[in-house]
Amino acid sequence: MSTPTDTLPRTDTAVAVADLTVRFSSKRGEVTALHDIGLHVRRGEFVSIVGPSGCGKSTLLKVVAGLTDPSGGSVELGGVPVRGAQRNIGYVFQRSALLEWRTVRKNILLQAEMRGLNKRAAEAECARLIEMTGLGGFENALPHELSGGMQQRVSLCRALLHEPEVLLMDEPFGALDALTRERMNIELHRIWRETGTTVLLVTHSVAEAVYLANRVVVMSPRPGRIVELLDVDLPAHREYATTMEQPEFISVANRVRELLGAAAHAD
Ligand SMILES: Nc1ncnc2c1ncn2[C@@H]1O[C@H](COP(=O)(O)OP(=O)(O)OP(=O)(O)O)[C@@H](O)[C@H]1O
Ligand SMILES: [Mg+2]
Repeated sequence: MSTPTDTLPRTDTAVAVADLTVRFSSKRGEVTALHDIGLHVRRGEFVSIVGPSGCGKSTLLKVVAGLTDPSGGSVELGGVPVRGAQRNIGYVFQRSALLEWRTVRKNILLQAEMRGLNKRAAEAECARLIEMTGLGGFENALPHELSGGMQQRVSLCRALLHEPEVLLMDEPFGALDALTRERMNIELHRIWRETGTTVLLVTHSVAEAVYLANRVVVMSPRPGRIVELLDVDLPAHREYATTMEQPEFISVANRVRELLGAAAHAD
């Protein structure tokens, strides 16, 4: 287990958040969503973020993406300060944000159109991702013809199309049934190993958080602070069922639950 704020050599760091505070002002007054967050994520690392509802998890991802401005502190992507919407990231939202009138292929290629990427290369990458995520045969299907899990896979393909350095995922599997979610976890883990992308995943599932991550960030109720950063000392290759039985998995998951339980009491 490491301490709530850690440091790494700059070159190894994909995401560096220091002393981050975010406040929102509204008619009802001021809300401090995040308070004094410090987090360094290594290149290629998979970090899960858990915490009570309203503790600022989505806000943290939005700040990293450059969609929300910090009120204090700093955020860097690959050593470069984040100013405005970032291009070298992929974002998977809680609800699959697919365009209903576009096919699977066209939804994925939207990413290339918006970024003005080379069409031939994007099409080849799109075909590769479709194959990798098991969507082969559904290239020309419309979103309403897909299951929830398949729609999320399309969102994942779209987020990966431009080979982002950092993939931000905000409760991507929250709306799925337990079995589909399990399958998506296994698939995401494989994709992460194959692509080497840095991932920040927000989830309410402790099992999902621990199974997928190198480290788990546990946050307090609002104003969100990092209560603990837990290392998950399991091999990179993780077979789903047997991983859940590992003493390391059980001990980290129990600690996360304990911290979330304490947070719920404080809420
Ligand atoms: N644009 C905004 N304007 C005003 N307040 C906001 C805004 N975005 C978020 N907040 C407030 O900031 C706090 C944190 O919100 P956030 O969406 O980050 O929480 P969360 O941890 O993602 O919650 P959940 O688990 O329910 O998704 C909440 O109190 C929310 O009301
Ligand atoms: Mg949220």
